[in-house]
Amino acid sequence: STNDHFINRIPKLELHVHLEGTLTPELRWQLAQRNDMSLHSLRLNKTFHTLEELKEAYNLLQPRSIKGVGLSAFFEAYYGGMEVLQTERDFHDLAIAYFGRAKEMGVVYCEAMFDVQAHTRRGVEIGTLMTGLGSAKKEAEVELGLKVNYIMCFLRDLSPEDAMKHYELALPYQDMIVGIGLDSNEYNRPPLLFGEVYRRAKKDGFKLTCHCDVMQKDTYEHIRQVACELGGTGADRIDHGLDAAEIPELVEKIKTKGIGMTLCPWAYVRHHKEENVFGYVRRLFDAGVLINVSSDSPAYVESNWIVDNLRLSKMMGGFTDEEIVKLQMDSVDMCWASEDAKGQMR
Ligand code: HPA
Ligand code: ZN
Repeated sequence: STNDHFINRIPKLELHVHLEGTLTPELRWQLAQRNDMSLHSLRLNKTFHTLEELKEAYNLLQPRSIKGVGLSAFFEAYYGGMEVLQTERDFHDLAIAYFGRAKEMGVVYCEAMFDVQAHTRRGVEIGTLMTGLGSAKKEAEVELGLKVNYIMCFLRDLSPEDAMKHYELALPYQDMIVGIGLDSNEYNRPPLLFGEVYRRAKKDGFKLTCHCDVMQKDTYEHIRQVACELGGTGADRIDHGLDAAEIPELVEKIKTKGIGMTLCPWAYVRHHKEENVFGYVRRLFDAGVLINVSSDSPAYVESNWIVDNLRLSKMMGGFTDEEIVKLQMDSVDMCWASEDAKGQMR
């Protein structure tokens, strides 16, 4: 929690958080011990002998120090970190640790993302992760009263064929998955490259979203494809997409189509000046776009949980308490809970 009691207290929706990105150094250390693994960083060319050493490596990934290194240092830490996830129990423990923390922060509904291929390519069976995540979802709902839906993301630096293969592998678990997304490195990987899997998923009843990271090559074209073309007529949501704020026609399109945007402002400070980040969040909100403020990969950036992102939006974007409440109401509108569950949140 933060020192902002209002933000701590109000019911919140987290719609953009990668479960693998909630793997704290403490949990990673614990899982490594349990699975009898040692921990290394390729980038730092280093073996971690203690939890303290591991925590220090995380300190190197803070927003200001990561600038210029780009996303690659983050990706390496993120994909490297998840090697400790081996068993059903590991995936369960990862998810429930985050859900417990979310509940403590006042989150009442969560759409949590997970990667599939990042695990299968390490030799983990899809059933292992889905069963672990499935039991954590049930536990969160029954024991914590926190409603959870999952969003399955495909790695866009892998092939569209591999995405389709994993889409089909995941169909037996369709009940716990509300939507699909695309994440990882978008360099020269436009959303429409994955048009076929998106059209198929739409036909099968999934909601559609796609990452458009900040300040990428072709950033406006990627946002345009997501807003106007993915799934035939455009996706239901854009993850990030902050640069749309620079193009009035894109803002108008997103607004009139009722497409929601999940923004994780603190993470963008890696790429943009702080004034621009919060100025753009503000501009989208003032234009009447449905936005949600979430955390993305909170364990890999200091002070980056949902409450921190909301507190920073308030301080640096000038959001009043009433506007913070409006953000939560807009989040209810754009989220993928059942109409019943939405009614209870309003
Ligand atoms: N961008 C793309 N892929 C990701 C991210 C991100 O910020 N976090 C986890 N996977
Ligand atoms: Zn993300």
